[in-house]
Amino acid sequence: MKQKVLITGGLGYIGSHTSVKLLEKDYDIVVVDNLSNCKFDVKDKIKSLAKKDFAFFDGDIRDRSFLRKIFLNNKIDNVIHFAGLKQVGQSEEYPLKYYENNVTGSLNLFLEMKTAGVKSIIFSSSASVYGASNLRICSENSALKPVSVYGKTKLIVENILRDLHSSDPNWKIINLRYFNPVGAHSSGLIGDDPKNEATNLVPFICRVVMFKNEELLIFGDDYNTIDGTGRRDYIHVEDLADGHIAALKKLSESNIKTLCIPINLGTGKSYSVLEVINAFEKASGRKIPYRITKRRPGDVGEVCANPNFANTFLNWNAMHNLDKMCSDTFKWIQMNSNL
Ligand code: NAD
Ligand code: WQD
Repeated sequence: MKQKVLITGGLGYIGSHTSVKLLEKDYDIVVVDNLSNCKFDVKDKIKSLAKKDFAFFDGDIRDRSFLRKIFLNNKIDNVIHFAGLKQVGQSEEYPLKYYENNVTGSLNLFLEMKTAGVKSIIFSSSASVYGASNLRICSENSALKPVSVYGKTKLIVENILRDLHSSDPNWKIINLRYFNPVGAHSSGLIGDDPKNEATNLVPFICRVVMFKNEELLIFGDDYNTIDGTGRRDYIHVEDLADGHIAALKKLSESNIKTLCIPINLGTGKSYSVLEVINAFEKASGRKIPYRITKRRPGDVGEVCANPNFANTFLNWNAMHNLDKMCSDTFKWIQMNSNL
C-alpha cells in the first residue's frame, strides 16, 4: 500500500523539490504550508513536474486544531517537517518570533502526532547546530555549539525529539542536518523563491548577475583558507531531496523498530566564495563584480560535512558538482526574471 507522508513547509525551497520526488516515487503526500515564505503557484508547478495531484492545506503549524484536523482526516504514516523560519540575521533581531515559529510550531506538531499515533518523522535540522565548534569538518558527534538564535532553535527541537524518543522508543526519528543548499530543479520551474529576501551567498550572486545589485560584498579574505575567503559545503537541492527519500526508506525498513539519530547531508567538499563566483561566472557567461569587506560577525573560515554516515547508513551520496549547482541556479533565475 502507498505510504502517506505529511509535509510541513512543502511549498518552500527544499520542500517543493522533495515533494516532486516523493510524488515521482509514488508516495501520497499531504502538504501543509502557511505561505509565509513561498508562493501559492508552487503547488501547480509541483503538480505539473510530477504529473500528479496532491492534497494541500493552507495553515499554520502553530495552530493545533488545524493540525488535529489534518491528522483526523488523513491516515498519515510519516512526517517530513520543513516548516520553519531560516534567516540567521533575522533570528537575532526577532528571537521570540523564531522560538515561537520553530520551537512552539514543532512542539505542536509532535503533540498532534502523538495524539494521532504517528511516530515517524524526518526533521529539517541544520549545520548551524555545530556553530562555533571550530571544526572545519563536522561529523554527527562533533560538539554542538550553535551561535545564532536560529541554530539554537534547531538544537532545541533536536533535543525535544531525543527526549521524546527516550520516553517512548516506538518513535523513529531522523534529524537531517543540511549544510548549504543551493541549485534548483533542472527544469528551471522551481527553485529558491522566498518572500523574505535571502542574504545568503548564492541568492546574492543571483541579484548581481540579474543586475539588481551592482556588486557582491565578500565578507573577509583573511581566513585560514587557500584564498582567504570562507569555505562552505554547498549541496544541490536535488541531492538534498534524494536524501529525504533515502531517509524515508530507512524509516520504513522492517528491521528498524526504533531510531533517533542526526545525519549530515553534505557533499564532503567545500568551496571558497571566490570559487563559487568563478563557477557562477562560467555558468552564466557574466562577470560578477565584487568587493572585499570585513568579516561577517558569527562566520567561521570553513564548514564542511563529513557525509560518511549518510553514505553508508542511508546508502545516499550527493551526485551534483558545483558547476551543476550554478548552471541550474542560472537557468532558474533566467526563467523567473521577476524573482
Ligand atoms: P523555505 O522558507 O523556503 O521553506 C519553509 C516553508 O515553511 C515555507 O514555504 C514557509 O511558508 C513555511 N512555513 C514557515 N513557517 C510555517 C508555519 N508556522 N506553518 C506552516 N508553514 C510554515 O525554507 P527552506 O530553505 O525550504 O528550508 C526548509 C527547512 O530546512 C527549514 O526548517 C530550514 O530551517 C531548514 N534548513 C534550511 C537550510 C537552507 O539554507 N535553505 C539549511 C539548513 C536547514
Ligand atoms: C556562505 C559564505 C559568507 C553572503 C547559512 C546558515 C546555515 C544554513 C545555510 C540554514 C560565507 C560568504 C555570504 C555575501 C559573502 N541555513 N558570503 N557575501 O552562513 O554558511 O550558512 O545558510 O539552516 O545554517 O548559517 O551561508 O550563504 O550566508 O554564506 O561573502 O553576501 O559566503 O561569509 O563564507 P552560511 P551563506
